[in-house]
Order: sequence, then structure tokens, then C-alpha cells
Amino acid sequence: MVKLARERAAGAEVVLASAESVPFADASFSAVAMSIVFFFLTNPVAVLRECCRVLRPGGRIAVYTTGPELRGTRAAPEPIASRGHFYTDAALAELARRAGLSDVEVHNHRGGQLLTAATEHSAQRRVRLSPALGDQGSGSSRGGDRLTRS
Ligand SMILES: C[S@@+](CC[C@H](N)C(=O)[O-])C[C@H]1O[C@@H](n2cnc3c(N)ncnc32)[C@H](O)[C@@H]1O
Repeated sequence: MVKLARERAAGAEVVLASAESVPFADASFSAVAMSIVFFFLTNPVAVLRECCRVLRPGGRIAVYTTGPELRGTRAAPEPIASRGHFYTDAALAELARRAGLSDVEVHNHRGGQLLTAATEHSAQRRVRLSPALGDQGSGSSRGGDRLTRS
């Protein structure tokens, strides 16, 4: 995969690493994308937290994965299906929220799930962390969560 990527994406920096611990500085990316990887992860919340770490405040994440309705189909055939991890749309959104992401949305098109979310803007984070402001801040950082199915 790494060899192919280096051949096909000339000029791109291609790094081999575990998604749970990537060799990049905090807040060094504005976006993270992951396609057909989430299914294989044994600790998805740890990976999403690692994505948050490398994202700037207000950075975006997009994760494409296969939903449980595709288990055993050509999109997720056996025997690999039994070794992977499927999540309902609601469960997928909950994993993202547990990792500290906000603005969580899951779009499901025929079992293909697209999770999108954002890290908090630094201003939101300051408000949420201020004990003097109580619940006022936490409400604003959790708004806008949606699940859609098409
Ligand atoms: C089905 S391939 C998809 C590759 C590519 N994203 C694509 O769409 O063609 C799954 C990839 O996830 C990688 N992977 C699985 N678990 C991983 C982990 N914990 N950390 C990093 N990569 C992982 C595998 O090495 C493999 O390259």
C-alpha cells in the first residue's frame, strides 16, 4: 500500500504508522480522512482521539466505513467480515462524540456510512472549559449532531 501510494502520489509525503499513534505534531492538520480503515480498528475511540490531537481547532474529519447491513455482502465479505467491526449509524456517531468531536453527522447511503465531525474551535473550547460559565459552554459545543439515511 505504501509502495503504491508513493508511486501514484508523486510529491506526497507517505508515512507508515499505526493510526493509534501517528508521528505528527499536535494541531498540524486542518483535515483528516480515512476510507475503509475504521472497520479494522480494535480501539476506534483511541484513533479518533489521535485524529483530534493532530487537527487544528475547528479541523474536520471524514471517515468512510461499511455499516452492519453490508456484512457478508461483496462490500464486506466473509471471512473478513467476522473479524471486523460494524457500527450502527447511532453507535458510530457516539464513538465520535466519546472521542471529543463535535458537529457529528453520519450519512448512510445503502450501508456505506460517512461520518463527518469537527474539533472544537479554540473559542468554544475556552468557553466549555471555563467553570464560571457552567453549562452555557457545553451546550454550544454539542449542538448540531445529526444522523441521516438516504
Ligand atoms: C481496505 S485497506 C483501505 C486502504 C485505503 N484507505 C483505500 O481506500 O484503498 C485498509 C487499510 O487499513 C490499514 N489499517 C488497518 N488498521 C490500521 C491501524 N490500526 N493503523 C493504521 N492502518 C491500519 C491497513 O494496513 C490497510 O492498509
